[in-house]
Amino acid sequence: MGKVIAVDGPAGAGKSTVSKIVANKLGYTYIDTGAMYRAVGLKYSETCEDLIDVVEKIDIELDDKARVFVDGQDVTAKIRTPEISKLASDVSKFGFVRKKLTELQRKMAERGSVIMDGRDIGTQVLPNADLKIFLTASLEERARRRFEELKAKEQIVNFDAIKTEIALRDKQDSEREIAPLKQADDAILIDSTHLTIDEVVAQILSLCSTH
Ligand code: DC
Repeated sequence: MGKVIAVDGPAGAGKSTVSKIVANKLGYTYIDTGAMYRAVGLKYSETCEDLIDVVEKIDIELDDKARVFVDGQDVTAKIRTPEISKLASDVSKFGFVRKKLTELQRKMAERGSVIMDGRDIGTQVLPNADLKIFLTASLEERARRRFEELKAKEQIVNFDAIKTEIALRDKQDSEREIAPLKQADDAILIDSTHLTIDEVVAQILSLCSTH
C-alpha cells in the first residue's frame, strides 16, 4: 500500500496545484477536500432547505480527473467562484457538516496511495498520515496567484477584493472552533512565496521518499 500524504494551508498557497502533480507522479489519488465544502455551499445556495438537510442528503463524488459531482451533476466549474469560496468557509464552521465530510474523506483515504489537501487533514482527518505538509505563502503572493487563476478563466476580478476575501477567509478558517486551520505539530512547513511549483513538488517528492 502506498503512503498517505496530508497537505494543509491557507487559501491560494498552491495546495491543489502541487498535490495534483505529486499525485500524478506517484500514481496516487488526489482528494480535494475544499471542493467537498464548496459542493455543500453550492447546493445550499441553490435550495431553500436547511443546511442540516442539505448535508444529510448530498451525494458528492470526486473523479480521477479532479472533477466534482453533486447528485450526479458536474459542478467543477461552478464551485470556483469567490461567492462559493466564502459560502464553503461559512458552512465549514458547523460540526454536522465537518462530521459528514470528515467521514467521507477518511473512507476515501482508506486504501492508501493518496494525497489529500485541505485545512484540517493533518490535524483531524488523517492524524496518522505518513507525511504532513503545511504549505503557505505570503498573503500578497497568494492573492496574486488566485487573481491570475480567475483571470485565466475569464472571470471579472479585482486584485484588492481578492486579497481582502482571502484574508477574511483565512481568519474565519483559523478562528473557527471546530477543526480550525492550523499546522499539525508533526507537519513540515513549506513557504512557497519564492518557490516555483516545480520546486515545491520536488520538495514534497523528496520528503515522501524519506517518510
Ligand atoms: O481549499 P478551498 O479554498 O477550496 O476550501 C474552501 C473552504 O472550505 C475553506 O475556506 C474552508 C473549507 N475547508 C475546510 O474547512 N476544511 C477543509 N479540509 C477544506 C476546506
